[in-house]
Amino acid sequence: MILLAYSTVDGHTRTICERVRAPVEAAGQPVTLVPIEQAERLDLARFDKIVVGASIRYGHHRDNVLAFANTHAALLNARPSAFFSVNIVARKPQKNRAETNPYVRKFLARVRWQPTLVDVFAGRLDYPRYGFADRQLIRFIMLLTRGPTDPRTVVEFTDWQRVQDFAHRVAAL
Ligand SMILES: Cc1cc2nc3c(=O)[nH]c(=O)nc-3n(C[C@H](O)[C@H](O)[C@H](O)COP(=O)(O)O)c2cc1C
Repeated sequence: MILLAYSTVDGHTRTICERVRAPVEAAGQPVTLVPIEQAERLDLARFDKIVVGASIRYGHHRDNVLAFANTHAALLNARPSAFFSVNIVARKPQKNRAETNPYVRKFLARVRWQPTLVDVFAGRLDYPRYGFADRQLIRFIMLLTRGPTDPRTVVEFTDWQRVQDFAHRVAAL
């Protein structure tokens, strides 16, 4: 039994989790997919493997992701586990590996959990969905980092093949 817990704001991290779930279940390993808030209320000890996926918003994973990792570090470290981050910076080839993505590095430096497997996936940009202030700020960040600034842009930077490879690695843990 695998726990797949996610922290999302606009749902993209959940979509990635669903893409992870399919091959893992096809490999004969049942998956429980829940928001991380709900994972807190489960008996974590009954899972053979635990996977956490979390997106970045204004430079941070949400506090409850760090809290989950630290509160349950001993339990997490005692079984195969995986962590992945979802962010827009990871669209850059030089920042799309666990070792080179600043948010992943910062997260791992702040938690006692040492996941067996760590990855990072580029997220989704959906200007029409954002409120005015968020849209303007993200456009400004994109201007500085040479990304799309047209406010009609909706683009998924996620490399779905990489997500699938990650799923196979989770199944093999
Ligand atoms: C308001 C807002 C702030 C964001 N801040 C960052 C950021 O600081 N760094 C980054 O790499 N991506 C940032 N992103 C991009 C998100 O990580 C990306 O859209 C991701 O797909 C969101 O996943 P979610 O839908 O699971 O929350 C931001 C997105 C929004 C809407």
